[in-house]
Amino acid sequence: MEGRVVIVTGGARGMGAAHSELLVAEGAQVVLSDLREDQGEKLAEKLGTNARFHRADVSSPEDWDRTVAFTEEVFGAPTGLINNAGILELGSIEDTTPEQFRRSTDIMMFGVFLGMRAVIPAMKRSGGGTIVNISSTAGLTAYPEIIGYVAAKWAVRGMTKAAAVELGEYGIRVNSIHPGEVETDMILGQEGTDAVADVDAIPLHRFAQAPEIARLALFLMSDESGYVTGAEHIIDGGATALA
Ligand SMILES: NC(=O)c1ccc[n+]([C@@H]2O[C@H](COP(=O)([O-])OP(=O)(O)OC[C@H]3O[C@@H](n4cnc5c(N)ncnc54)[C@H](O)[C@@H]3O)[C@@H](O)[C@H]2O)c1
Repeated sequence: MEGRVVIVTGGARGMGAAHSELLVAEGAQVVLSDLREDQGEKLAEKLGTNARFHRADVSSPEDWDRTVAFTEEVFGAPTGLINNAGILELGSIEDTTPEQFRRSTDIMMFGVFLGMRAVIPAMKRSGGGTIVNISSTAGLTAYPEIIGYVAAKWAVRGMTKAAAVELGEYGIRVNSIHPGEVETDMILGQEGTDAVADVDAIPLHRFAQAPEIARLALFLMSDESGYVTGAEHIIDGGATALA
């Protein structure tokens, strides 16, 4: 990944931190963007001179302009993007307020659109790039009690394919990753709710660890996956094979 400049949203903790750590270890320069300033700054410092933190809200077009400008200033034009930031809000359809639904889709659907839109000009100028959008198995199958999350994650799957078709001629590849349960702060404490699968119902009988998802993202970001675009990549311990 030497010579590659990658923006990772939601990079301060969880899977975003794992993506950032692995990309830096593989030689990339990484801008971690997140709202969690303390955690993000600390992680970037730990990762060394090839990592920088930038505070940004993925649902803000202005913040995206600032994120790309910051990236160009510190490392050069972005050639990679992992749209990873997300939130999980539980509630039945009737208990979900319009504001909650909008928050989920603002961050995980609109935010993914804004991210792709923001990096495309720089990628076109560089002659190509790679975008990985983090969806979920909730973007492939039904999950009760997380309607906004499901809406956003199915949208990410569709937008990924639309973007791959539109951007192929510019050498820009776009793929989605669909993790099942991953042991991060997002789901810890939510076990036993309908939004989190029962570990015994997963063929591998365990949740994933964040670095396992990061290795798949690294493959999709790298030239090793040069002919892979517009595709959905499931990493769920076999859970959807049962569905
Ligand atoms: N943990 C799982 O089981 C699981 C499964 C499938 C998909 N995912 C997806 O993986 C991604 C990462 O999740 P995670 O498990 O690491 O969760 P996490 O809560 O540990 O990390 C998410 C990060 O996104 C950041 N974020 C939230 N809203 C933001 C905003 N508006 N702007 C910028 N940053 C924002 C948070 O501050 C946090 O650091 C999410 O898109 C999530 O939906 C998670």
